[in-house]
Amino acid sequence: MPIKGKLVDKLLTFSNFKSHILTRLMMDSARPHERPTALDRMLAPLHRWIWSDTDRRVQKLLRFSETETDGGRDILRAAEVTSDPLLRRLYLEHAIDEFRHGVLFRHRAAALLKVASSGSNAGFQGEWLAPGGHGLDDLQVDGESDIDMLAFLHLSEKAAASRFTVYRDVMQHDPPTRAVFEEILRDETFHMNYTLTQLARVEPKQHRRHLWRARLSRLWKTYLRLATGLAGILGSLLLTIQYFVLLPPFAWLAKRAARREPSGWTIVAAGTSQSLDRQY
Ligand SMILES: [Fe+2]
Ligand SMILES: [Fe+2]
Repeated sequence: MPIKGKLVDKLLTFSNFKSHILTRLMMDSARPHERPTALDRMLAPLHRWIWSDTDRRVQKLLRFSETETDGGRDILRAAEVTSDPLLRRLYLEHAIDEFRHGVLFRHRAAALLKVASSGSNAGFQGEWLAPGGHGLDDLQVDGESDIDMLAFLHLSEKAAASRFTVYRDVMQHDPPTRAVFEEILRDETFHMNYTLTQLARVEPKQHRRHLWRARLSRLWKTYLRLATGLAGILGSLLLTIQYFVLLPPFAWLAKRAARREPSGWTIVAAGTSQSLDRQY
């Protein structure tokens, strides 16, 4: 390609980039940053405890990385299937952001892994009680209309913005991880805002009804997640009680029966022995 052509391409790219940044800034300033929900604020001490352990932090960051990357893949699919050119551009940008978040979380987890001690307990992470940032792992792209997709994305991004605000606030002991959340939070706020703006554009009259429907669906999924977590705890509790209450009498009876058994070889009375020329 001639030098002039290359220069024009670079200038065009720069001009697109500039207009993209301006659009983002305008959209970001259109709505304030999301405040954490009352539930997330209430769970802040639990989040503080979960994130205080380095090994747990590594596990959670790796899981977040997977969720963000999977979410990015689904949004890329949404960009393929939508017939709205503006939504396609926004979805593409959104997908790139989510892939970048995945990389940021993974890099931070790798950096922490180098200094992590192996003695801490990363077992309990309260995932069912306080799940990872996005709800994007529930996203079903094919067969969804643009309206349902935007309503779902808006609520997921809103939830992510709320939780990442709390995570950033409880991460005072780890400034690099806090900086990662701070950076990602800016994108999540943009995602939250553009999805709502676009929903109102695509469905100006009934977008609130669609939001409520998506809210109820999320509520049902939250109930299922809590019920599954609670069922897991109750199951473990009942099995532990059974182990300590029902098993000891059987063990005692087995030991008593074993004590009554004569030890060593036993002489069998003549005539009662079976023939040895067949198997049974
Ligand atoms: Fe994200
Ligand atoms: Fe996002």
